[in-house]
Amino acid sequence: MLNQPTFNAITRSKMVYLLHKFNFTILVLLFVWVPLRELPGQASHTEMSKLNMVASVNPIATDAGLKAFEQGGNAVDAAVATALTLGVVDGFNSGIGGGCFILIRTADGKLIAIDGREMAPGAAQRDMYLRDGAADGNLSRVGALASGVPGALKAYSGAVSGYGKLPFASLILDAAEIAEQGFLVDHVYSGRLRSTQRYLKQFPGSAAALLKPDGTIYQPGDVLKQPDLANTMKQISKSGTDWFYGGEFAQKTAEWMSQNGGIITADDFRNYKTVDRNPVRSTYRGYEIVGFPPPSSGGVHVAQILNILENFDLRELYQKDPAQMRHVVAEAMKLAFADRAYWLGDPDYVKVPRGLIDKEYAKGLAGKINMDQVSEVTSHGTPPRKDGDFFEKHTTHVSAADAEGNWVAITTTVNTTFGSKVIVPGLGVVMNNEMDDFSIAPGVPNAFGLIGGENNAVAAGKRPLSSMSPTIVLKDGQPIMTIGAAGGPKIITQVVWGIINHLDLGMPIGQSIGEPRIHHQWSPDRLAVERKLDADQVNRLKELGHTVSLSGSGGVTQAIAWDKKTGLFTGAHDPRVPGKAAGQQ
Ligand code: GLY
Repeated sequence: MLNQPTFNAITRSKMVYLLHKFNFTILVLLFVWVPLRELPGQASHTEMSKLNMVASVNPIATDAGLKAFEQGGNAVDAAVATALTLGVVDGFNSGIGGGCFILIRTADGKLIAIDGREMAPGAAQRDMYLRDGAADGNLSRVGALASGVPGALKAYSGAVSGYGKLPFASLILDAAEIAEQGFLVDHVYSGRLRSTQRYLKQFPGSAAALLKPDGTIYQPGDVLKQPDLANTMKQISKSGTDWFYGGEFAQKTAEWMSQNGGIITADDFRNYKTVDRNPVRSTYRGYEIVGFPPPSSGGVHVAQILNILENFDLRELYQKDPAQMRHVVAEAMKLAFADRAYWLGDPDYVKVPRGLIDKEYAKGLAGKINMDQVSEVTSHGTPPRKDGDFFEKHTTHVSAADAEGNWVAITTTVNTTFGSKVIVPGLGVVMNNEMDDFSIAPGVPNAFGLIGGENNAVAAGKRPLSSMSPTIVLKDGQPIMTIGAAGGPKIITQVVWGIINHLDLGMPIGQSIGEPRIHHQWSPDRLAVERKLDADQVNRLKELGHTVSLSGSGGVTQAIAWDKKTGLFTGAHDPRVPGKAAGQQ
């Protein structure tokens, strides 16, 4: 478990030098001092560059992004190359069988939001997960009925053709080669195989692709080759995304679905569309926060939580009583998540009021926060103009930026580990289980314990509500930070933490994402607190009335910050898991 950034390569080499140069006393002082401070940009999970930056949870994927930069690509190419490669080496989190949201700030200042979220198949029905009148969460999580029509591939290809410089065909071919040659399984990948092995075994295509011939799992250090996935990616490289959405991939998948109780048809693939949406734009203490609009709940609720927090001096609170500052943030989260459960859904199907990000509405909610005591939140609030002003109609995150001024945030997912656990034989692609992000019945929690209302009920062609929150922060029109995360509903709160730690508390970006986090999602009424938070603060939060549940890791964040004074990008991957941030030197 990595906690505070501690001894990193730079500080270690400094120590070796000092060992030769100075006496033991200085060395002892240094050992005491270094772990207490983070040297800006020098934590082991951060990297600096003047030219560009890409950060992800996997070094092979980050290197694919770096390669795109080296070939003359921009941040869009690098982010997509990284995302495609994550689908190969980190396929339990994301892949072309899943969906994504892509937020881009182009060098000429345009803000683009590409919605590549999965769509419910045409035959999907509101009660499709009810059996004998009761919701069956297994059906929305595992097997043929769990998948929505994947959108990630179309979104990646659209992002590159619209805003990148390199041919999409070459980016996906590079990913295909990694699938073909194989990669060294690490303890994270092996652990995910272990936790899903019994489900993967239920599907011959998945067992053939992801388990050894005797059904055992790949261990750390084993090489995993994915020839079927390589072939699928090569076909897409050769024939374009039509091979996937209108050709052999769609036909074979539809055939398998009809033979195995699924409802996705070849027409569903043909009808899949990405949607260009208007980003959610709000402000926070003079910064502009650009987030992803519905069907993500992320942009709305990151903005809403920050709007509520703007009514408090977090820096002063943190200096006086950090637990009380965390209490205020938790109460703001709770209020926002109560609204999420009621108001949020696919804006092409339901009306999501813009008033949710209204500053006066946030002020009213802030007034409900008792500084010294947990408040009960029994229900959602009622934002202004609720009838008339609407938003138009286990996951991973990639951050990328370049010196031209392109900034990219891609959050991409197959939902929970290895999605629906289905790989159609011969195709190599993990199919998502994003249908579980609908509310399959009122009040029935999904895999993340989230409940939802009418607005997020299943319907044909509808997109399930998401928490993915790719975010870009600007100051005076200049991007200074991008951030996003994985972890279901904890995505929203991680992004909030990254922003307030960096902007309010002045932490360097690496530290801001490494700090212990807390999370509240209204229901269940429980404050999730990372175990590494000081015991004193945990006790104080309990005294304030929180029902605390200690957890190992509160999600995984990637971020990049840009410093106007030095002109340097600092990229950071989450120190809780492996990963890599890199830029050209
Ligand atoms: N599947 C996780 C999310 O979209 O929120």
